Amino acid sequence: MRPDTTVLLDEKRVFKPDVETVENAHVKNWEIEIEKGKDIEKYWAEKAEDLDWFQKWDQVLDESNKPFYKWFINGKINLAYNAVDRWIRTNKRNHVAILYVNERGDERKLTYYELYCEVNKMANALKNLGVKKGETVAMYLPMCPELVVSMLACTKIGALHSVVYSGLSVGAFVGRMNHAEAKILITADGTYRKGKIIDLKKISDEALLQCPTIETVVVVQHTGNDIEVSDLSGKEIFYERLLEGEPAECEPEHMDAEDPLFVLYTSGTTGKPKGVLHTTGGYMVGVSTTLKNIFDIHGNDLWWCTGDIGWITGHSYTVYGPLLLGTTTLIYEGAPDFPDPGTWWSIIEKYGVTKFYTAPTSIRHLMRFGNRYLDLYDISTLKILGTVGEPLNSEAWMWLYKTIGKERIPIIDTWWQTETGMQLISPLPSAYLKPGSVNKAVPGVEADIVDEEGNPVPIGKGGYLVIKKPWPAMFRTLYKDDEKYKEIYWDPIPGVYKADDVARRDEDGYIWIQGRSDDVLKIASHRIGTAEVESAFVSHPAVSEAAVIGKSDPVKGEVIKAFVILREGYELKTKLIKELIQHVRYELGPVAVIGEIAQVDALPQTSGKIMRRVLRAQEMGEDLTDL
Ligand code: WTA
Repeated sequence: MRPDTTVLLDEKRVFKPDVETVENAHVKNWEIEIEKGKDIEKYWAEKAEDLDWFQKWDQVLDESNKPFYKWFINGKINLAYNAVDRWIRTNKRNHVAILYVNERGDERKLTYYELYCEVNKMANALKNLGVKKGETVAMYLPMCPELVVSMLACTKIGALHSVVYSGLSVGAFVGRMNHAEAKILITADGTYRKGKIIDLKKISDEALLQCPTIETVVVVQHTGNDIEVSDLSGKEIFYERLLEGEPAECEPEHMDAEDPLFVLYTSGTTGKPKGVLHTTGGYMVGVSTTLKNIFDIHGNDLWWCTGDIGWITGHSYTVYGPLLLGTTTLIYEGAPDFPDPGTWWSIIEKYGVTKFYTAPTSIRHLMRFGNRYLDLYDISTLKILGTVGEPLNSEAWMWLYKTIGKERIPIIDTWWQTETGMQLISPLPSAYLKPGSVNKAVPGVEADIVDEEGNPVPIGKGGYLVIKKPWPAMFRTLYKDDEKYKEIYWDPIPGVYKADDVARRDEDGYIWIQGRSDDVLKIASHRIGTAEVESAFVSHPAVSEAAVIGKSDPVKGEVIKAFVILREGYELKTKLIKELIQHVRYELGPVAVIGEIAQVDALPQTSGKIMRRVLRAQEMGEDLTDL
């Protein structure tokens, strides 16, 4: 999307915070906090004091090799130690750390002490499998406690994890796995989805045929699904067997603040997913601080982030943020509307969820059912509602505010990315809110909206969203590709991080996100590259060329519209359409929702590059003369 420089804002409503919310908040005055955050080094150093360091840093920020910034130089710390170990010596020892619930109504609780023992056993088991500090362990697991345990076990011993979202399929899986060069994969016998069990083991078996680096596959028996396991080869081992006899103690590795923590693949403009690399100390500081202040987390909160652990939202705010704050995190496996669209409300009522963080697409989906299911449950325990992943349109915002929040609780629309690691633009609960706006950069972060040369654009005009100063949870590079890191994010507009979103700012300094400026789709909040979808299409024998664009959808935000050139002898009839949909789904997974396929004879191109902009303009009936 090109910045639309002509449209002016029409949204004028402002909602003041509720008195009680402000009185109880960690940050009672967001504007004063933003002022404090202007001295970024002082601000973030103060926040870092909330964590337990084995050795304190001797410099907060090192900018000597831009854009390869470093935070908390020479600080030594361990994530699992801070997220788990330190709580068991406090009154949190028997506090529930993980509350797992699924769409069938099963539940499992792990206290901080139980989580501690389990993580240590897994950490020891990984060591026995030969995993060393700095090596990568791959995971293809449902939303389940074992995924959290495995991630924490890696961080305990200094191994990186690379989690592949369980909704991605064979093709997407293979690319990610091979780039990470993991030797170990942890997967499961299945995941629950809308009353069915999706056999993850089968998908990973197929993928592994093309993943030569994997030596050992650990299988979690999660659903009791009848799967094929070739245990005899010694290559596959059940999770439970693996942990048998392992001691429940494990010394945490003293990690340098800048040691790699994890790699997470995400889509960009180019065909291949990018391995976003996060490091240890700054990530922990950024994620715990934002969650604490933006969602105002206190000891007695019940936190529920519906974001799948396979994406950054799940890494930062389903798993690490809440555990670093010693709160209870609810992990839900299943669809929002199964067995019926009241499921989520029933969970909020049953467990007394206080802070709820989800995606706009889920809200729009549940909104369609009006009060029918909502009225059956008492959800008055809720104190803050937040969203992430795509624009929260003002209609959905108002529904959250009025119907769910009873005009009492703040609606927190947070903007951030896989790359940013933490929330960067968002209101705090004490802020004045405008529906449809993501408010301002959070304290300690500086954002701007600029033109191609980096000059700030006037109020009300569209431009590129950039971040002007480094922030602690920023990614440090693209895995194994420092050059691309510079080229994609830092070179386009010198001196600043270009987020590839377009946005506007209003007269009060509030930011309004318009969408992506690159060829990335947001389908039900999932980030998918157009190039990835196109290569999935052309890997089908009937398709010689393909171009895809996002087509707006009232619930999912966007779905795929594909333009295909077929090889001779093929015709785009119902059978082939079905086959193509299935094929793309096989390659990428159910996240690749296809709305429409159109057959064309040619695609608009310049110097071999498909001009999706032309297709989009055509689709929206726009004037094409300036193209
Ligand atoms: C989009 C998700 C509008 C944006 C944490 C960004 C948003 C991309 C918002 C990152 C929001 C995220 N309003 N758009 N509040 N939050 N986005 O990496 O285009 O999956 O660049 O990270 O989602 O997606 P990602």
